[in-house]
Amino acid sequence: MRILITAGPTREYVDDVRFLSNASSGRMGYSIAEASIKRGHEVVLVTGPVELSPPSHVEVHRIETTGELRAKCLELFPLCDGVIATAAVCDYRPRERFVGKMTKTGRPIVLELVETSDVLAELGASKAHRWVVGFALESQDPRTNAMRKLRMKHCDCIVLNDTTAISSLDNHVEILSPDATTIAEFQGSKKAIAAELIEFVESSIALQHDC
Ligand code: CTP
Repeated sequence: MRILITAGPTREYVDDVRFLSNASSGRMGYSIAEASIKRGHEVVLVTGPVELSPPSHVEVHRIETTGELRAKCLELFPLCDGVIATAAVCDYRPRERFVGKMTKTGRPIVLELVETSDVLAELGASKAHRWVVGFALESQDPRTNAMRKLRMKHCDCIVLNDTTAISSLDNHVEILSPDATTIAEFQGSKKAIAAELIEFVESSIALQHDC
C-alpha cells in the first residue's frame, strides 16, 4: 500500500520569530512510518518540525503551519490508499501575523486566535475508496470525545490515547471502531505499538477497502 502519515506538531506564527505550538515529539508517526516500510509499504510522511530523522525509503514533506499541512495532504492523499494522522495540529492561529518582530509595549497585549482548518476532517470528507485512521488525544471523557472525532472526520477507526503520550517513549492505545467498540488495544513502546498498529490496519481496515 501507499500510506500517507502525518506527524509532529504544527506551528502558528505570532510574528516572524515567535509561534504557538505543542510538545509533540513526532515519535508515534515516525515509528509508524518505519514499521510500514518494514512491512513493505510505500510511505509518504508529512511532518512538522521534530528532532527525529525520518526512516530510510520514506518520501518526506516538511511543513510548519496547519495551512501547509492541509495543502500538502490535499495534494498527496489522492495518490495514497489511506492516511494515518498522528500530527498534533494547532487548532488556533493568531488572526494577524505581525510582519517583523513585535516589540514590548510595557502593557498587556491580547492575541486574537481563530480556528485553523481541520485537515483530517477534510481528508475524511473526500476519502472515496481510501481508508482513514485518526488519532484522538484526550484528557476528559475520552471515549465520547474520540467517537465524536471519528464520526466528524469520517474515520474507519480512531486510536485513542491520553495526554501522557505527547512527549513520551511509551504509550497505551485503544482502537475504536465506528460502532464504538474497542477492536484492539496495544501497550508498550511507541515502536512496538506502531508495528502492531500497521499489522492491524493491513488485516482489518485496509482489507475492508480491498487495499
Ligand atoms: N487533526 C487534523 N487537523 C486539525 C486537528 C486535528 O488533522 N486541525 C487530526 C489529528 O492529527 C488527529 C485527529 O484529527 O488525527 C484528532 O486530533 P485531536 O487533536 O485529538 O482533536 P481535535 O480535532 O483537534 O479536537 P480537540 O482539540 O477539540 O480535542
